[in-house]
Amino acid sequence: MDIKIPKLSLVVLIGASSAGKSTLARRLFKDTEIISSDACRAMVSDDENNMDATKDAFELLHFMVETRLRRGLLTVVDATSARIEDRAKLVALAKKYYVMPVAIVLNLPLKICAERNRERADRNIPFEIIANFVTLVKRAGRNLKEEGFKRVFEYRNQEQVDNIQRVFRE
Ligand code: CTP
Ligand code: MG
Repeated sequence: MDIKIPKLSLVVLIGASSAGKSTLARRLFKDTEIISSDACRAMVSDDENNMDATKDAFELLHFMVETRLRRGLLTVVDATSARIEDRAKLVALAKKYYVMPVAIVLNLPLKICAERNRERADRNIPFEIIANFVTLVKRAGRNLKEEGFKRVFEYRNQEQVDNIQRVFRE
């Protein structure tokens, strides 16, 4: 199955930690199209797990997203974007530059996210935080159109995610 999006889109990945956002982004998009909150954390603190750097990291993320959109470049935001206020900022940037906001929701079961999180070498997030993210993501799915996302692609299990063949840009 293909994902069809406009040529000039702001693609917002939405998913709990360990849902597989970065893995999917790498498979579907060019490296330079992906702006990741972890990479931004690393750039401002030398540590992509440094939560104290969150505010500065997101300022950098928004700056890079805005610069790319102003320059007419498709951009993918690789962050959890589980909270409505995180998404609102991105939708506003897309609107400012007449770019289509598109959501790709990885609404995977808690069990999978928690298992993957446990096995990760780079980061292990407390179970409660993952559970909280999973709940937020489930809730988010219903209202994304009202939030301003023009297209919403939601996947509820890994099989559905694996079935995404490619992103077709219209
Ligand atoms: N993973 C996996 N099979 C997949 C997708 C991911 O085994 N189909 C594993 C990855 O190898 C990684 C972990 O699950 O060890 C988390 O995947 P990642 O793509 O990094 O998840 P993110 O959603 O990006 O997590 P975070 O929010 O923490 O960046
Ligand atoms: Mg990631």
